[in-house]
Amino acid sequence: MPSLIAYLCLIQGLFLIAVSAQLTTQLTTQLTTQLTTQPTATCNANTNCTIVNCQIVCTCKQGFTQNAQNQCVPADLCTSQPCKNGGTCNRSTIDPVKYRASLLSLTKEQLVEEAICINLLITTQCQSQSKPMTDCYDWLHIGGATKSGIYEISPPGIKPFKVFCDMETDGGGWTVFQRRINDDLSFHDKLWNDYKVGFNNGLENNLWLGNENIHVLSTKDSNVELRIDFWGNRNPNFLNPNGYWWEKHTNFYLDDEAHFYTLHLSSSFTGNSSTWSVKSALSHSNGLNFSTADAIHGSHPSCFSPYFQFSGWWSKTVCGQASLNGKYNVESGFGVHWSTGDIIIIPTRTRMMLRRLA
Ligand SMILES: *[C@@H]1O[C@H](CO)[C@@H](O)[C@H](O)[C@H]1NC(C)=O
Ligand SMILES: *[C@@H]1O[C@H](CO)[C@@H](O)[C@H](O)[C@H]1NC(C)=O
Ligand SMILES: *[C@@H]1O[C@H](CO)[C@@H](O)[C@H](O)[C@H]1NC(C)=O
Ligand SMILES: *[C@@H]1O[C@H](CO)[C@@H](O)[C@H](O)[C@H]1NC(C)=O
Repeated sequence: MPSLIAYLCLIQGLFLIAVSAQLTTQLTTQLTTQLTTQPTATCNANTNCTIVNCQIVCTCKQGFTQNAQNQCVPADLCTSQPCKNGGTCNRSTIDPVKYRASLLSLTKEQLVEEAICINLLITTQCQSQSKPMTDCYDWLHIGGATKSGIYEISPPGIKPFKVFCDMETDGGGWTVFQRRINDDLSFHDKLWNDYKVGFNNGLENNLWLGNENIHVLSTKDSNVELRIDFWGNRNPNFLNPNGYWWEKHTNFYLDDEAHFYTLHLSSSFTGNSSTWSVKSALSHSNGLNFSTADAIHGSHPSCFSPYFQFSGWWSKTVCGQASLNGKYNVESGFGVHWSTGDIIIIPTRTRMMLRRLA
């Protein structure tokens, strides 16, 4: 008897009032359970059916959508499984290689990877194929992130980590690896391992990203730019509290730890932080090892004395024409400083950042 009612109910799609009057509440419940747990042919695996006023109401399950023939078919994967990390999802049939080329300035190799992703979108692989964000350049140009701030990046070969991305300066896409804003965090007394793994008091505050991370970020691409900015001069001989200086080099990278994080950069540069025509204060450190007080690799021990409180820099017998990791407040001698060739700047704020060139 219950199954007959169920049958009629299904066929007509409405409750048989005459029968309903005789049904106990218990029976109705049984019926409902039966219909829900044993969906008929109209309710296929992609459908979620419930009974509302004795009408079977079917909706498509998550990930499925109703087509013109009232069948539940897999939904547009771009909607149901959007690409991770801001990967672009596009199911149109235009040439995907051309599409990416028009959107981004990508190399040939990158295009192949993106093209694979776009083709696979039409089947099922969108998520796993989408590109990881390997640096702030990716976040800006692929992830569509336009606000400066903290982002997680996944460079090849190491665990993902958080960085501060500058999305405004000089076209944006910069990964910040050094910043001084005040004396809240000391840099001059940090040791080899501190500089290796990095330290900060908030990625938006004073920070050293870590030589290991800087090494990976500066060697994963064939040409990486280095940009240095600093503000204010606290040097009483050349006081200029509102001064601002910057410079930019190409071909920047740090060797690995086995090679003491040796600094490499183009000796030519753009910017106004130097009146030396050929070299800037940093170019003088080109090809030098990184040294800290406990790991001196070619630097002079006196560079770490109370007079030259440098630490964490690429220096030799002459301690260097610059050290942006020196002591912040110095009574006499040197700490954080930069020589332009004409004057010595003791900046109030400093920033070093890198960005791959295409
Ligand atoms: C089926 O629909 C009900 C009511 O709308 C909902 O609560 C339930 O989550 C859905 N189940 C599935 C598997 O979509
Ligand atoms: C997909 O690509 C076509 C052709 O370039 C474009 O017109 C369309 O807006 C794109 N759709 C999405 C969702 O990006
Ligand atoms: C350096 O250049 C920036 C802008 O490019 C400018 O704002 C700044 O005043 C310049 N500094 C000096 C010392 O010329
Ligand atoms: C780098 O350090 C190593 C080991 O201390 C040393 O042998 C080498 O000469 C140094 N290189 C320079 C350019 O000072």
